[in-house]
Amino acid sequence: MATQTINKDELSNLSFILNKPNDVTFAERPKPSIQSPHDVLVAVNYTGICGSDVHYWVHGAIGHFVVKEPMVLGHESAGTIIEVGSDVDNLKPGDRVALEPGYGCRRCGNCRAGKYNLCPKMIFAATPPYHGTLTGLWAAPADYCYKLPDNVSLQEGAMIEPLAVAVHIVKQAVVKPGQSVVIMGAGPVGLLCAAVAKSYGASKILSVDIIQSKLDMAKEFAATHTYVSQRIAPEENAKAIKDLLSLPDGADVVIDASGAEPSIQTSLHVVRMGGTYVQGGMGKSDITFPIMALCLKEVTAKGSFRYGPGDYELAVDLVATGKVDVKRLISDVVPFKQAEEAFSKVKQGEVIKVLIAGPNEKQ
Ligand SMILES: NC(=O)c1ccc[n+]([C@@H]2O[C@H](COP(=O)([O-])OP(=O)(O)OC[C@H]3O[C@@H](n4cnc5c(N)ncnc54)[C@H](O)[C@@H]3O)[C@@H](O)[C@H]2O)c1
Ligand SMILES: [Zn+2]
Ligand SMILES: [Zn+2]
Repeated sequence: MATQTINKDELSNLSFILNKPNDVTFAERPKPSIQSPHDVLVAVNYTGICGSDVHYWVHGAIGHFVVKEPMVLGHESAGTIIEVGSDVDNLKPGDRVALEPGYGCRRCGNCRAGKYNLCPKMIFAATPPYHGTLTGLWAAPADYCYKLPDNVSLQEGAMIEPLAVAVHIVKQAVVKPGQSVVIMGAGPVGLLCAAVAKSYGASKILSVDIIQSKLDMAKEFAATHTYVSQRIAPEENAKAIKDLLSLPDGADVVIDASGAEPSIQTSLHVVRMGGTYVQGGMGKSDITFPIMALCLKEVTAKGSFRYGPGDYELAVDLVATGKVDVKRLISDVVPFKQAEEAFSKVKQGEVIKVLIAGPNEKQ
């Protein structure tokens, strides 16, 4: 059923496994194989560490997703195709791909409506009970693997996942040329939202954070303006942001990529009458929300969850055409065996994005 060049028997399937909070191990796991003629087998080259991986490592749960059995971490990966099923015609062994790590059921109403990110039966890497991609070999449906052009590296390929999150957020915000966009949070997602908004033609892009060094990066990367959020009332932070942008009526679009309650509150006071607010950050489940501002300004408020049709393709294109330089966000690349140390670094918050080389990667 499969054509093969690299022999998978020669590759390790060493995996980085979370047993329970703050307890991780490395173990060789059974090698996956192609289950359907539409599947491919991928050797994982690089995986970025996401805040959610760190959250599972520290707390063992995110909301109602609880790690009950040992789980392989990681979901931001790029790899090399080593086998393809008999019906795969878009990929061949040796192709380098970005892996989209969540698979909808293809049959429910949301999947059929083209909103597979909202599939109730979603199988998503490193979201319990499903294993993640910090492993040697990964079997996936071929249509969730995106071929990287020759000028996009495998390390850049591992950055396509967070970039696709930002693409989805900016699409939800319907950013138009010439608009003003305020982005709360200058972590990887906020920084990438700023870059995508710029590529959509936004003319004023203001990044907000509580840490000056994050804003220095934002200014270098894509933002036209930055603002350090102060410990004052949300209305006062909002006024300072509007003054800084010379926009007394507020910004066309406000995106939250922080999940922090004060920044969400500020957002509703920054957005203009009839403007758009998008919730991308995930913090506390319930907060005090300025609902009167939402009502009186007829704000269009939307959520944004992961990514959907076309988001990965656009993310790859933004990197290939040089519009978003994801390389600048890669703080470090470490060997597989240093995965736990890398998680500690991300937890301490001194880095932007750390990549872990796959267990078969020679370093
Ligand atoms: N919607 C989705 O599908 C999706 C996908 C991935 C991540 N996320 C969420 O997006 C958010 C950003 O992800 P990330 O990887 O960049 O995380 P991150 O933790 O690196 O970035 C969050 C940033 O917000 C800043 N911040 C904290 N409090 C703030 C405040 N009061 N005002 C302004 N900034 C503040 C932090 O200093 C940090 O720089 C997280 O909440 C994450 O859970 C959502
Ligand atoms: Zn992620
Ligand atoms: Zn579905």
